[in-house]
Formats: sequence, structure tokens, C-alpha cells
Amino acid sequence: MKNLLSIEELTAADINALLDSAAVLKRERGSHAAQPLSGQTWALIFAKSSTRTRVSFEVGIRELGGFPMFLSKNDIQLGRGEPIKDTARVLGRMVHGAVIRTYAQQDVVDFADYSGLPTINALTDDEHPCQILADLLTIREKLGGWEGKKVAFIGDGFSNMTISWMWAAKHLGFQLAVGSPSACLPPDSFLAKLAAPNVTVTTDPVAAAKGAHVINTDVWLSMGQEDQKEKEAQFAGFEVNASMLFEAAPGHIVLHCLPAYRGKEISAEVLELHADTIFQQAENRLHAQKAVLVELARPA
Ligand code: CP
Ligand code: NVA
Repeated sequence: MKNLLSIEELTAADINALLDSAAVLKRERGSHAAQPLSGQTWALIFAKSSTRTRVSFEVGIRELGGFPMFLSKNDIQLGRGEPIKDTARVLGRMVHGAVIRTYAQQDVVDFADYSGLPTINALTDDEHPCQILADLLTIREKLGGWEGKKVAFIGDGFSNMTISWMWAAKHLGFQLAVGSPSACLPPDSFLAKLAAPNVTVTTDPVAAAKGAHVINTDVWLSMGQEDQKEKEAQFAGFEVNASMLFEAAPGHIVLHCLPAYRGKEISAEVLELHADTIFQQAENRLHAQKAVLVELARPA
């Protein structure tokens, strides 16, 4: 792997190798001597807010011997309109890797191309690969894996999270049911490109949750969509709550990438009942991303 730009471009072998490495890094945290980022500076370029992604990358880069340089879009000329390809060609001559959170997926692709740096997608409008790796690690830890398991995604059927989950299901072969209002379902063109019969979509959230071992949800309005109140109005009946979970498989787990809006996509009761899993999932961002950094690191 040269970059982590999407789940789409990974293989099952890539994903499993990263998760194996993440499990070792988690177990050996604080005692592993290898410093593969020693002497390296990694730029963290963020055009959107972040708690988990920023903190886990800053800590992870330091723990691997490197120096993280946080650059909010507004701190650099990118925020004043300097093109991504110029920003990339400058940073490519100065730093050793880049982690980018932005809007257009093409910007992350262009940054990787023009900088030549190992580049990590820290969330775009199209994908959130780091989050999905942490989610899969959590499923492995909590359920022993996804073999024979049904995963449900309840919420926006065509967000960065859902798209990355659909690609993960395609690569790994587990059953994924997306329950989404009709206006937010993945378009037929995307489903044709995905070509994954194990991914099903429905406008009935309870049908999606029925028999699921993993119930996954996310905000109804992703960053950049906050003023789309007409979109939010479509989600009546899509709250992950106790009555929906009544339909899930015995021993199910609930995942939420966070931040969560209690009383919207998830009830306060369900979030607190499953807080142990949800915050383990958040912690796993650190371990999964350290595995990605180790995989992508080149000698300084
Ligand atoms: N889940 C996630 O990416 O959280 P942040 O937006 O806080 O980074
Ligand atoms: N879909 C959400 C994920 C946040 C981590 C968003 O893009 O805002």
C-alpha cells in the first residue's frame, strides 16, 4: 500500500493485515520499541472539525516516533484558495506524509498524486476508511469476526460512512443491510458499480435491523450538510432505540462512529447501554491508524 485513500481500493488481504497489525500494536502499546516514523514530520490538513481523528493521529504519530503538524485549512493558504495541487507540491518537498480531512475525494487523490507523499484519507464526503478499520477491529474483538454475521447500517444510506461500509462488505463478504429513507438510498449506479449481492438496501429500518449482530449508525446530517433541515425531516422512525434493537440478534453490538446526537439517530438509552463498545470503537481509531502509519511509512 502506498496510500489509504478509500476502502474501495483495498483488498480483503489488505484489511486483514492492517487489523492483525492493529491488534499487535494495541496489545504492545507502550512497550513496542520500533519507531518507524523516527525523524519524520506528518502534516494533518483538516478542512472540517475533528476530535477523534485529530487526537488519534497526533498521538499515534508521536508514539511511532514522528512529529505531527496540525494545519487547519484556515491556517494555511488552502483556505484562501491556493489549489490543492500546489499545496501538495510544496508539502511533498518538506514533510514525510499527510493525513487529510476534506470535502471532495478528488482532493485527497490529487494531493497524493502531486505530493508523492504517503497520504491518508481522514474523511471526505465519499469515504471514511480509518473509521471503518477501527469498526472492523471492534467487531473482531467483540464478536470474534464477521463470518456468518449480519451488519445493519441505519441512517443516511449514501454518506461517507455507509459508502465505506458497503465497500468493506463487498471485500469481506459479510451480509450488510442498509436501512435508509428513500431519498438517501444509494443510487442504482453506485449499487451497479459495487456489484455486491451481500449488500441489500431497504427503506424499512426495522427490517434492516432484524437479526443483525451489529447495528451501526451515524449522524443524519454529515459535516457540511448541517442546514439541510429538509433532509433531516426524512429520518422519522430511523432512531436506533430499544424497540428497534428488540429485532436484532441475541448478543448484538451497537456501533456509532461519533459524535452522536441523542434523540436523533440513537436514543440516549441505547448509547449509554452500549457505551463500552462505542468508546472501545473510538479508542480503536488510534490502534488501527497506527497500523496504517506503519504500513505506509517510508524511510525519512
Ligand atoms: N468519528 C470521527 O471521525 O470523529 P471526529 O470527527 O471527531 O474525528
Ligand atoms: N458522516 C459523518 C461522520 C463523522 C465522523 C460526517 O461526515 O460528518
